[in-house]
Amino acid sequence: MAGRYRSVKGTRDLVWPETALWQHVEETARRVFATHGYGEIRTPLLESTELFARSVGEETDIVGKEMYTFPDRKGRSLTLRPESTAAVARAFIEQGLESRGLPSRLFYIGPHFRYERPQRGRYRQFSQIGAELVGAAGPASDVEIVLLLVRFLEALGFDDLTVLLNTVGDAASRAAYCDALVAFLSPRAEGLSADSRRRLEANPLRILDSKDPGDRSLLEGAPAMTDSLSAQARAHFAAVCDGIEACGVSYRLEPRLVRGLDYYALTVFEIVSRGLGAQDAIVGGGRYDGLLAQLGGPDLPAIGFAIGEDRLVEATAGRRAWRQPSIWPPAHAVAIDVAPVEALRLADELRRRGVAATSELDVRSLKAALKGAAREGRRWVLLVGPEELASGTVTIKHMESGEQETVARSEAVERLARESERP
Ligand code: HAM
Repeated sequence: MAGRYRSVKGTRDLVWPETALWQHVEETARRVFATHGYGEIRTPLLESTELFARSVGEETDIVGKEMYTFPDRKGRSLTLRPESTAAVARAFIEQGLESRGLPSRLFYIGPHFRYERPQRGRYRQFSQIGAELVGAAGPASDVEIVLLLVRFLEALGFDDLTVLLNTVGDAASRAAYCDALVAFLSPRAEGLSADSRRRLEANPLRILDSKDPGDRSLLEGAPAMTDSLSAQARAHFAAVCDGIEACGVSYRLEPRLVRGLDYYALTVFEIVSRGLGAQDAIVGGGRYDGLLAQLGGPDLPAIGFAIGEDRLVEATAGRRAWRQPSIWPPAHAVAIDVAPVEALRLADELRRRGVAATSELDVRSLKAALKGAAREGRRWVLLVGPEELASGTVTIKHMESGEQETVARSEAVERLARESERP
């Protein structure tokens, strides 16, 4: 039946049992992140528009085309967060998290918004699982972040992971590279898309993100970032690669990987896996050493990643069946010829004794009640009628064997409590 309203384009409802898989992914994330010393940060969904414009970059697709931006009632420009690195950096500065000691290890899970063309794995409201490590500059911190990501994906059952690695250099390297890129592209500017021609002046690095086929073929002969690296940037990158290898993680150098956000410096990475499929990238990350200072905060180095949870869940669903949550009611109470609230009272008694239980709420036939209990996987159906109420008993129906017995109510509750502790 079509109701009067539909969900907004690019958003969707996630309904049990699908949400059980989301919970599994999130519980795994929380466990793995905790074992690495990462604590949760929750920032608002709304931020000032300028925060993203300044940090993600005016010329990026995210800021230029994809943000949900609107004036509030006082005319202030607000944006639904399209990503969280800028928001975490803002919160880090505003909350003075530096004073709690460095490095600061943070993670987040939650919805983000980008106005993109919806398709499978791409939504206008999507969820990210991300981590940010603030206040450590050395290559070991890059290795820690990549390792955290790999160990999390492994815990979800992905085993054939390859890290795609590149460096976008430090500020000096990037300036030199921009010059080389502009020198290469300027004589060919006629062949560039309108967007890229504008970026040639405004932000040449962003031309590398272009999906325009004409731009892509022009870029094939373009110089690579690796040719413009300063000695320092080169040494940092070499140490990161060595460290990742020393931890037994396989990686591949991807000289054209730049990532579509302006704040990156030095290491950038993505991950591919046969199990993760050929769809768009599931995860991306990198170092953003200048960002905190640029936002008016302390000049601290930082690195992080974000995983697209929708894509991750879809890939996980292909690998394993969703699991029933560990708490799932084994008992269902049904009132026969007495008010349904009597069944509710029995279920309440069971739950207070630690036995998860439901009860039949409307008067239905016993047959319908049993059918419903079987569909929901209940082990026991407890029947209360006038006789049971009068004698302080309940009738237990064992769903698997079909056997039925009438026992003292208190004994029934204790027995189910004992039995439901067993797997
Ligand atoms: P990003 O590459 O823009 O990086 O996004 C990270 C991930 O979010 C993507 O790999 C993708 O899986 C997912 N994602 C992005 N847009 C959508 C969408 N429309 N629908 C579904 N999934 C999507 C960042 O956001 C950076 N903040 C990552 C980072 C953290 N860098 C350093 N720290």
